[in-house]
Amino acid sequence: MSQSTHFGYREVKLDEKQRLVDGVFHSVAQRYDLMNDLMSGGLHRAWKDALVSKLRPPKNDRPWRLLDVAGGTGDISFRALKAAGPGAHATVSDINADMLAVGRERADEQYFGEQIVFVEANAEALPFPDRHFDAVTIAFGIRNVPRIAQSLSEMQRVLKLGGRFLCLEFSQVDVPALEEIYNTYSFRVIPEIGRAVTGDAESYRYLVESIRRFPEREVFAAMMREAGFARVNATPLSGGIVAIHSGWRL
Ligand SMILES: C[S@@+](CC[C@H](N)C(=O)[O-])C[C@H]1O[C@@H](n2cnc3c(N)ncnc32)[C@H](O)[C@@H]1O
Repeated sequence: MSQSTHFGYREVKLDEKQRLVDGVFHSVAQRYDLMNDLMSGGLHRAWKDALVSKLRPPKNDRPWRLLDVAGGTGDISFRALKAAGPGAHATVSDINADMLAVGRERADEQYFGEQIVFVEANAEALPFPDRHFDAVTIAFGIRNVPRIAQSLSEMQRVLKLGGRFLCLEFSQVDVPALEEIYNTYSFRVIPEIGRAVTGDAESYRYLVESIRRFPEREVFAAMMREAGFARVNATPLSGGIVAIHSGWRL
């Protein structure tokens, strides 16, 4: 097989992955927030709060622009705006219009007004100028993006100099006693919750598998450095079930 044919094949596989991911979030959009609570036993709230405390949005009226990539129904942005002063503004970007529509409704219910906007965009090609945002976050999103390196470069490109990037993602459990329970829970319980709530166990099996395929912390740190981030580190939470990856544009 010639290299270009092989590359073309890989591109098709990556596009198929995106189609599969889009199908999952299209079918779950209305019940996404409920699913998160059911599947994580509410833990996703604590993990998201940990992300926002690391982000430390300014409490005063200093202008501060956040981009939340793969922001879905807006959870991270809502939490960041609540923690921030009146100068804060959030842009939620996501490839899936259904997730964004739910987010817009939730933003209206919470009277965020002009403090938040929702933009349909692929994380691999962000429609924003260079050096535009003070902070960029992505939570439980990057493992769904087919071209991770490309989206890391994009997120680095749109950050201002001195801006911070934070990524919350599933990681590797490093407590042996927890590992077995976690494996059973992921491969048996999560697809069953998916079936009960959305009638679709297969998509949830795919999501669990995507967690296992996501690069280990050190490999992901190397990818972040490759994309141009500095002072890269990772903080595991809940025995390594998730980790917050941090980097700066310096
Ligand atoms: C598990 S949800 C996370 C949503 C939100 N960040 C949260 O923590 O609640 C993953 C999101 O990634 C989005 N996504 C998948 N592929 C994407 C891509 N290539 N570009 C942008 N968003 C993408 C999905 O549409 C979905 O909304």
